[in-house]
Amino acid sequence: MPHQTEDQETHPPKRSSSEALAAYFDWHALAGVEDLIGPEPTGAYALSAAAAKAPPKAKPTPQRTGAAPAAALITGDEAAQQAAVAAAACTTTEELFAAIAAFDGCSLKQGARNTVICDGVPGADLMVVGEAPGKDEDRIGKPFVGRAGKLLDKMLAAIGRARETDVFISNVIFWRPPGNRTPTEAERAICLPFIERLIDLNRPKVLIFAGGVSAKTLLRTETGIMRLRGAWRDYETPGGLTIPAMPLYHPAFLLRQPAQKKAAWRDLLAVQARIGTAGLTND
Ligand code: URA
Repeated sequence: MPHQTEDQETHPPKRSSSEALAAYFDWHALAGVEDLIGPEPTGAYALSAAAAKAPPKAKPTPQRTGAAPAAALITGDEAAQQAAVAAAACTTTEELFAAIAAFDGCSLKQGARNTVICDGVPGADLMVVGEAPGKDEDRIGKPFVGRAGKLLDKMLAAIGRARETDVFISNVIFWRPPGNRTPTEAERAICLPFIERLIDLNRPKVLIFAGGVSAKTLLRTETGIMRLRGAWRDYETPGGLTIPAMPLYHPAFLLRQPAQKKAAWRDLLAVQARIGTAGLTND
């Protein structure tokens, strides 16, 4: 085997700029730095993939990824209005899934790998609505599949429920916020017509709002989860249903504060009892 010259040892072979860019993203991903972005999504995943695919001699050109350019040109109010029109036009969950996936008005989409809409059984009498996809959910494309999701599954199992058989699960936000930051009020307002339509079309008998963001968004309140949890609320859907809703501590919070599991357990028992109540008629 020929010896490397000193020059080869100290200066790795020259790479094209697109290869260097792809290596740059890969190096950060290996180091666990996946959010090379500020609070505004920039489509880093797509940038990395595009850089890797680019022909070796091509000059790197600035790229916008993910959402259509329209997303950058309309205001949050306009986007929320567009979402409301798109959601109202859907008469089935399948149509709604397609409408959400096609919607480009939420800038979070630009930084996300997947649109994460729901998991479980559409039409189940229990529906859980969480906050937003995290890293694992973004990768897999389903809500609550990471550590918090595993705990949610255990919590549901404790009241004899499972997403495979009798729970429907979604979030108030369908795209992962950069670095798992809390979704902004504007992002929540833009996604709201879609999650509300999803609830209307699925007509659950009981809702669980998992965490403060879910509860505050759907109940249109600024009250925090510490005060909301444990007390039934009547959630009024745009379609005219009144559904009992239980705000619950988010499983991710319970992972950090296991002492609060006792309270969550009490709230889950209340949910179990309420679903068993005769006379709930959202069929
Ligand atoms: N947390 C949520 O609120 N939703 C998910 O889907 C995952 C984590």
